[in-house]
Amino acid sequence: MSTSFQKRPDFLPFSRPTIRQAEIDEVVDTLRSGWITTGPKAQRFEEEFARFTGFPIALALSSATAGLHIGLMALGLKPGDEVITTPMTWVATVNMIEALGGRPVFVDIHRDTLQIDEEQVAAAVTPRTVGILPVHFGGAPCHMDPLLETARKHGLWIFEDAAHGVGTHYKGQHVGCFDRLGVFSFHPIKNMTTGEGGVLVLKDEELARTLRALRFHGLEKQAWNRYAEGGSPQVEVTRVGFKYNFMDLQAALGLPQLASVEEFNARRIELAALYQELFAEVEEIQRPALPAYPHRATWHLYAVRVTEKAGMSRDAFIAELKARNVGTGIHFKAVHEQPYYQQKYPGLASTLPHASWSSERICSLPLFPAMSEEDARYVVAAVKDVLARRS
Ligand SMILES: Cc1ncc(COP(=O)(O)O)c(C=O)c1O
Repeated sequence: MSTSFQKRPDFLPFSRPTIRQAEIDEVVDTLRSGWITTGPKAQRFEEEFARFTGFPIALALSSATAGLHIGLMALGLKPGDEVITTPMTWVATVNMIEALGGRPVFVDIHRDTLQIDEEQVAAAVTPRTVGILPVHFGGAPCHMDPLLETARKHGLWIFEDAAHGVGTHYKGQHVGCFDRLGVFSFHPIKNMTTGEGGVLVLKDEELARTLRALRFHGLEKQAWNRYAEGGSPQVEVTRVGFKYNFMDLQAALGLPQLASVEEFNARRIELAALYQELFAEVEEIQRPALPAYPHRATWHLYAVRVTEKAGMSRDAFIAELKARNVGTGIHFKAVHEQPYYQQKYPGLASTLPHASWSSERICSLPLFPAMSEEDARYVVAAVKDVLARRS
């Protein structure tokens, strides 16, 4: 390591949730209340999340993956139906299309922003296409206007994967439900967390009825208090459903997180701006770029690409950063590069050059609200040291 670089004694993780006394108190309050599964706090969380995003209906569930699953079912996805999506996502997005027998149709991303290429979406529509499943990658929005135009022209639905997008805006509006449906994730690395959890946002009460039933065993009436005084036992199953409900224990974590998410996001924005400034002179690293259309990015990830100029692989870069006590993540190995998808849909790498290139080179650097400016400066110094000492 170069003489000026001093390795820190402790490990800086790539992400860490911000859990304060408020979350602990709320969870303890729930534990003591006698009601720990889906109940009044889960209901309050849904109301507050709907208010925060500006959409009329929010349905909280056990994960965003669960939301993708029942969301696609409720939109009527059938075996053989095509859904246009991005390969630059967590595999859950595409797995749920596959799980229902649908066919994921991958289109490439913009090389600079990593967002789905809206022109390629328009060109990928066939008579079998039923919908578009775009991802607001890394907390910046994808280009919704052209996607909506394509959807309207061909009678398709759009289901937004906004797993990274709590607080993200496109042209002044919160992302999530520009069309029929959207889903957010509260996994611990996300901009706010409920341990595990997710939420669907929508406008349509009919669709919500279907989703509520699919979320909980196929029960149409969601009387959470059916075992409580004043509640009535309810056993009318109208369809086959799942067990994807959201517990009050999760809501207890989520309520103070939601109340602070704008503060968390503001800190992420500050830290990302500092990284952008400090990495400007590091030409071996391609910094993340934001889209040109009006938006608000909440920097779920700070994902750089280790370019050819670095003269080293991304995996070697990650190992060297780890040796300097810096944690990283890979978001993402492109879905078409995953063994299952490679086998089922071979030969896609050449048709998806930007996603394939990024898949091999992408690396998320530490970014979380409790990080200090000193931590961010340390990461940049560590990257520079890795690059200075490459063989
Ligand atoms: C883009 C994207 N979609 C969906 C998911 C699934 O979220 P969850 O872990 O809440 O199921 C993730 C999780 O990392 C994600 O990054």
